[in-house]
Amino acid sequence: MKFRSLKTTAMLVIGVSAFALQGWASEPTIVPEQPPFPAQGKITYVPRASLWEFKALPEYKEPDWVTEKFVKAGKLPPVAERLPKEPLVFKTGNMPDGIGVYGDTLRHVVGGRPEGWNYSAGQTQGWGGIDIELFECLTRTAPLFQVEATDVEPLPNLAKSWEWSEDGHRLTMHLIEGAKWSDGDPFDSDDVMFYWEDNVLDPNVSPLNGATPETFGAGTTLKAIDKYTIEWTFKEAFPRQHLYAMAYGTFCPGPSHILKTKHPKYAGTTYEEYKNGFPPEYLNLPIMGAWVPVAYRPDDLIVLRRNPYYWKVDEAGNQLPYLNEMHYKLSTWADRDVQAIAGSGDFSNLEQPENFVESLKRAASKEAPARLAFGPRVIGYNLHMNFSANGWGAPDARAQAVRELNRNEDFRKAVTMAVDRKKLGEALVKGPFTAIYPGGISSGTSFYDRESTIYYPFDLDGAKALIEKIGLKDTDGNGFVNFPADKLGGRDVEIVLLVNSDYGTDRNLAEGVVGQMERLGLRVVLNTIDGKQRDAANYAGRFDWMVHRNQAEFVSVVQNTPQLAAVGPRTSWHHRANEKGELDLMPFEKEMVDIINKFIATNDNEQRSELMKRYQKVATGNIDTVGLTEYPGALIINKRFSNIPSGAPIYMFNWAEDTIIRERVFVAADKQADFELYPEQLPGKPGESGPTN
Ligand code: GLA
Repeated sequence: MKFRSLKTTAMLVIGVSAFALQGWASEPTIVPEQPPFPAQGKITYVPRASLWEFKALPEYKEPDWVTEKFVKAGKLPPVAERLPKEPLVFKTGNMPDGIGVYGDTLRHVVGGRPEGWNYSAGQTQGWGGIDIELFECLTRTAPLFQVEATDVEPLPNLAKSWEWSEDGHRLTMHLIEGAKWSDGDPFDSDDVMFYWEDNVLDPNVSPLNGATPETFGAGTTLKAIDKYTIEWTFKEAFPRQHLYAMAYGTFCPGPSHILKTKHPKYAGTTYEEYKNGFPPEYLNLPIMGAWVPVAYRPDDLIVLRRNPYYWKVDEAGNQLPYLNEMHYKLSTWADRDVQAIAGSGDFSNLEQPENFVESLKRAASKEAPARLAFGPRVIGYNLHMNFSANGWGAPDARAQAVRELNRNEDFRKAVTMAVDRKKLGEALVKGPFTAIYPGGISSGTSFYDRESTIYYPFDLDGAKALIEKIGLKDTDGNGFVNFPADKLGGRDVEIVLLVNSDYGTDRNLAEGVVGQMERLGLRVVLNTIDGKQRDAANYAGRFDWMVHRNQAEFVSVVQNTPQLAAVGPRTSWHHRANEKGELDLMPFEKEMVDIINKFIATNDNEQRSELMKRYQKVATGNIDTVGLTEYPGALIINKRFSNIPSGAPIYMFNWAEDTIIRERVFVAADKQADFELYPEQLPGKPGESGPTN
């Protein structure tokens, strides 16, 4: 590992008080080059327009049993009447194995648990791809991993086309015409407006994945022109970037005809009643996705059956999906890897390095039921420090004192210098997987620039000197530094680290941090709670520090961009507004906000890449987050499935569940297995228990 000369280094970090750093054993530098980790699947890059289009076809088909048992019996209109005027047509040329056949089941395993189906009101369905499948969005981005960076723009979905006004402040979107919810109710601008006005804009409702009005730009408005036309207005001209916020997970409307029956504005209910009005036991919620939940057994299984009104087809006119059934076994995330490798599950994002070696070993055998392919280093972890000193999360005196430390640049430098990243990585897995990651955007994105990535090498003595410099000393000789005598009675500094207990990796990283901070003299205690509670604590600001797996804004940069800085009162992971809506940003955070706002406002590729370099310098130089580790993930998928795109990363614009385009995935007739629990059955009526036949 070679570091740059001190002179170049000093030039690199100008603006982040490089000159105050003299006297350390090691100086900040650019991050060392990562050991190469070649992705295994080769991506064939294609133009965006080659993926799908919207058009009417001369005839449409469906599984024979649907025609026989449902259409002929008068229980369902003919397929042509169930489809929109112009369905979404997947182009055969972009399907790795071409047109498929009907049948079989995709068995997912998930570590989360469904809270309920009300995504619009913030309920989780247990992750692992359930919500991604249920709730279709205006645009779609996951499949863009195969599109050249210069051609990347969100793909049409529920919004089938759009135009910008001449001045670029108005965007007119045309919704898919004549599409229906899975119960046959028409999908139209009422659904879109209900999501926007009564969920996103209603301050008492927080949709899942955190959509707020600012997610779409401050001052943005939306109105319906007619049933199938909506119009956005923006303060900026041509903010094409907002098309990403209209993809998963921030603009995926729910069924207004059903949700309104429990929403306070329409039903005289309370907001709690609205949020909890559709518990997991409520089956057959109308959706726009390809499979509808028809059965739920707590801690065991969710079963979904094909949506007879699904609005997507292949070029031969076959209504999709090809797969009849979808399972989500309710287990643990680690078990998802084990089951996918063993063949009792069908799919996993191998993302916990503790499972890498065993999984690789087993997948190498010829008889292995699943294929496993590693992609680029897209999984990263950061330690986020809570930067709010004006009340977010109502801190007590101890927590307030920690926030003030978090806002102290020398303190953050000490912490980052005391992190031995090599050790952290090796504690997860030995081998060429993990890399030194100082924070900032991921090394896997096309916007990454190593020269702009500032790294404070591991230097425990230098870190200790900084801790002393800011007045923290171990006055009682117990090995942990104390606050100065006039603060909190000079007691030990104690920092609570929020951790998601659902993942072994999160726990291991957090324990590593506790041990390494102990050597620095900082007492860190863990608050290890399940993912649902952890998210709630994060959103409410109830944490000092937290271990956080990077989200799409770090990996694709263009998806979820507003989360890269506090551009709105509730967009940053670690710095949100207090109850009065005030944000107390530090100067470097203001700079980050300015950069991100400019990034969102410009469509000039060169300018965007320059802006991201600046962002990276400011974020890593000032230690906006303390990077912990970065490593690749592998997609594990049972060998019987066809139409899995080569090189599909487990994460980029979205998770692989979306990237592989499940509605197009099929199992060849001679490979079909017998896993359907409700063969030849379709979803029942909303709220009914179970499917129907
Ligand atoms: C969880 C899993 C990911 C992915 C997502 C999908 O976060 O850890 O691998 O399946 O759910 O939302």
